[in-house]
Amino acid sequence: MESILNQSYKLLSGYSMPVLGLGTWRLVGVACERIVSEALELGYRHIDTAELYGNEAEIGQAIRSVARGELFLTSKVSSANLRTNDVIRACTGSLERLGTGYLDLYLVHWPNDEVPIAETMEGMQYLVEEGMIRSMGVSNFDVGRLRAAMDASDIPVCNDQVEYHPYRPRRELPQFCQEHGVALTAYCPLGKGRVVRDPTLTRIGQMYGKSASQVSLRWLLQKGAIVIPKAGSVEHLRENAQMDGWELTPEDMRRIEEMGIEMKLVDATYT
Ligand SMILES: NC(=O)c1ccc[n+]([C@@H]2O[C@H](COP(=O)([O-])OP(=O)(O)OC[C@H]3O[C@@H](n4cnc5c(N)ncnc54)[C@H](OP(=O)(O)O)[C@@H]3O)[C@@H](O)[C@H]2O)c1
Repeated sequence: MESILNQSYKLLSGYSMPVLGLGTWRLVGVACERIVSEALELGYRHIDTAELYGNEAEIGQAIRSVARGELFLTSKVSSANLRTNDVIRACTGSLERLGTGYLDLYLVHWPNDEVPIAETMEGMQYLVEEGMIRSMGVSNFDVGRLRAAMDASDIPVCNDQVEYHPYRPRRELPQFCQEHGVALTAYCPLGKGRVVRDPTLTRIGQMYGKSASQVSLRWLLQKGAIVIPKAGSVEHLRENAQMDGWELTPEDMRRIEEMGIEMKLVDATYT
């Protein structure tokens, strides 16, 4: 079986996005550079960052060891920069800090109802046409906002990145994304660490010789999501990539869906 690190999702833009990435929120400085380097050594090729994370320069240092064409880099424009020219300026800054000529994916980090989405999409389209980004998408957009972004754009909205884990199971958005070919990325796929000691996930994991964290990631992958767990150690990086050669049964998938715990861990004003 092909390693999870080599599996990818074909985006509407035609480019491929690895289904497992490294989340880097709250990783900064030397620790960030070290963990990104270790992830790359283990074979991770997808790194998720944002202008707001304040770690693009460190990531730029770490990725020098790998040929750019092998990497998939995502960054995000903050909701304060969604006017057309601000989108372009923000992306230029991210490219400079990361030391790269292009981003594989650029996302609107959060909606901003004060800026018409068409203005933002115009900036995104310019970036694609200029080769500064390969694919574009959104984050923290519910179905209504995602549909509006798609309607306002002449180029495909390839991705929506939202909070998604066993304590935040979603129904409407995955279905909509699947119907429209939009890749759905699960952020906080370990519930910010909250699911790693969950008794139901632990019990299910024991039957496969896996941890609760691995069960959470496997569940999301089998739901068709892309996952970007953050890890602060090589042990966690390695554990989170051990997804090969096993699958949750439909019965276990259902048990997880029916756990009935609902938690919104990130500001949920919009989703
Ligand atoms: N678009 C957005 O608005 C948005 C919002 C939030 C997050 N994100 C993205 O999503 C990424 C992931 O979300 P997150 O960082 O909030 O949370 P997360 O990935 O759900 O959880 C990270 C926590 O889980 C722990 N962990 C990782 N692997 C583990 C393992 N195998 N066993 C036990 N514990 C483990 C980590 O501890 P250690 O550090 O000790 O390994 C950390 O405390 C972010 O880093 C960011 O890139 C995007």
